[in-house]
Amino acid sequence: MPKISIIGAGNVGSQAAFYSALRGLGDIVLVDVVDGLAAGKALDMLESMPIAGVNSKIIGGSDYALTRDSDIVVVTAGIARKPGMSRHDLIETNSRIMRSVIPEIGKESPESILIVVTNPLDEMVHLAHTLSGFPKQRVLGMAGVLDSVRFRTFIAEELGADVNDVKAMVLGSHGDLMIPLVEYCTVKGEKISNLLSQEKIDVIVERVRKGGVEIVKLLKTGSAFFAPGLSIAAMVEAIIKDQKNIMPCSVLLQGEYGVEDVFIGVPVKLGRNGAEEIIELELNKEERLAFDKSVSQVKTQ
Ligand code: APR
Repeated sequence: MPKISIIGAGNVGSQAAFYSALRGLGDIVLVDVVDGLAAGKALDMLESMPIAGVNSKIIGGSDYALTRDSDIVVVTAGIARKPGMSRHDLIETNSRIMRSVIPEIGKESPESILIVVTNPLDEMVHLAHTLSGFPKQRVLGMAGVLDSVRFRTFIAEELGADVNDVKAMVLGSHGDLMIPLVEYCTVKGEKISNLLSQEKIDVIVERVRKGGVEIVKLLKTGSAFFAPGLSIAAMVEAIIKDQKNIMPCSVLLQGEYGVEDVFIGVPVKLGRNGAEEIIELELNKEERLAFDKSVSQVKTQ
């Protein structure tokens, strides 16, 4: 049975754990600094497994020894945004948290694949790569999957379409400068530019870019967690089942897209070895400029 550890048993971490368990992806370990939080949530989840008809083991605690020899470790430890905060307002606190968490993971599960979720995403996944010393194929950031499902949701809603028929891809950093790729967004194979006015598309693109803040404003006490949790589980599933699905992930670019040494969101083939291949899409002039702007924002942080 694959072993999946999730560090941070808060909103995002516990949803990711629950979905991964419900899908029977492996045995789940939840870790949190807060005493009892991970153990309590893990026990509660475990007790729901007979209803789900799944035999996943779920345990939790504060000791990293529980995570030993994990196949995948998901990092959601950190603080989340409150209204008025940008993802970058989290950088100091969350960098400190990464410095305490990543070495523990490296010690217990040196062969694992790391999926970083903590914000600001592209900077935190870069830091995790540096701190772990893991090869780049085994260090990924989760953001693009979430951004592209938001895009699909809004398009499906606008057109009254089945979400399953909507394909979408989002590139770039996880923030206001992300690039929802309009040219690659289709409904039953038809480009959305043939189905919606430019005005409507612009409104949706802006809503995708601000998708996180829309929820932060409503919640007032934290940030999104259902869609992020399920997006993590989708990545975990693609890796565990060696699906070779193409998903947008934050990975280290070393020459791809003409970019050197920056972690940023691009389409990646996900399989048992992690980020098995970076897919280089053709970008039009406008998308290229937007991508370069997004890259330079991550670089200057
Ligand atoms: N080790 C382990 N867990 C930690 C540590 C640490 N050093 N520091 C904090 N945590 C735990 C907290 O105790 C808390 O339970 O991380 C959890 C974070 O949970 P929430 O506050 O509910 O935040 P959440 O909404 O899950 O977001 C976590 O993911 O999407 C990003 O921007 C978001 O950076 C944030 C992260």
